[in-house]
Amino acid sequence: MALLELAIELGASNTVIFKRGSGIVLREPSYIVVDDINHPNTAIAVGYGAKKMVGKTSDDVFVVNPISEGVISNPAATALMLREFLTKVLDGNIFRERIKAVLVIPCGLENKSKNMLQRLMFNLGINECYFVPSPLACAANFTDLQNSGLSAVMVNIGGSVTDIAAVNNNNILYGFSMSVGGNHMDEAICDYVQENFKVLISQVVAEKVKLEAGSLYDNDGASVEFSGADNENKNPHVDVISAYDIKQAVEPFYDMIIEGVETIINKCSPDVVSDIAQTGIYVCGGGANITGLDTYFAKKLSLPVHISEEPHNVATRGLGKLLSNPEVLAKVIKK
Ligand SMILES: Nc1ncnc2c1ncn2[C@@H]1O[C@H](COP(=O)(O)OP(=O)(O)O)[C@@H](O)[C@H]1O
Ligand SMILES: [Mg+2]
Repeated sequence: MALLELAIELGASNTVIFKRGSGIVLREPSYIVVDDINHPNTAIAVGYGAKKMVGKTSDDVFVVNPISEGVISNPAATALMLREFLTKVLDGNIFRERIKAVLVIPCGLENKSKNMLQRLMFNLGINECYFVPSPLACAANFTDLQNSGLSAVMVNIGGSVTDIAAVNNNNILYGFSMSVGGNHMDEAICDYVQENFKVLISQVVAEKVKLEAGSLYDNDGASVEFSGADNENKNPHVDVISAYDIKQAVEPFYDMIIEGVETIINKCSPDVVSDIAQTGIYVCGGGANITGLDTYFAKKLSLPVHISEEPHNVATRGLGKLLSNPEVLAKVIKK
């Protein structure tokens, strides 16, 4: 039986799957709609279809977003969601092939959570399952950096966590996972809109305006229409939010991430700091997509800032690359 090798990122916001020999074969929101929240048997919708239903279902149907901070809150729903995704990418061959999966995990994920992930993967018919902390998965993309032997800082801004680590030669020198991510920014946008526009909006709408007009530039002229319910009488209300407003809500979170980077750098030896002055900060994850992030970070940190294309796929792509490099993969795998 041929061995099928996968790199998987089970993110709080999105699940990404890379298949060796094919590249990224799936990127879908980590959402599933089920009929029974505790004993889900069938998926009413999954991925994009499920995320569209957030806040719009009747009382007997449940939208589940079952992963946060690398921790699975609803194992049955996660298993069903992953089964749907794997069936999609493996053309239904999930129990017919021998499968090895390597999973991206947040820095410092507890053994309890890793064991749960591993059990879940085995129950799905995955034969071998390994874990790689996200900074090392991200770093694997940057061949020039790896070949240089120099240290650098990896930052991965996801939906529920941001991982920050100083890395060198496939090792984490110092790293941690902060509970700061896109979901917290969306909540802050909801609060901001309620306070300043007197309008109630959902997190889905908050994320939408952030994606369309979010910016860390001071003078960004972007704006976007949004709709919600009037705070007082709950009538429909349409309004326009500017990039300035969105910045007021999201900037404190980017500042926390910058403080996290400074904390990591302050722990490093003078030699590593000197490397980082040269190499800089590699920012990945969906949160790296916000307009103006490179300028904002570079100004506050006085360091070079690199943002890859499709930063939201960097961790999975890096891990996917390592599937073809068993020697390095063995080094970065956390048992
Ligand atoms: N242009 C953008 N501006 C700001 N945040 C963004 C942008 N694009 C995506 N995001 C945010 O990135 C997060 C998802 O990133 P991702 O790396 O897929 O998360 P995870 O790995 O935790 O699932 C979401 O919170 C999303 O709102
Ligand atoms: Mg991610």
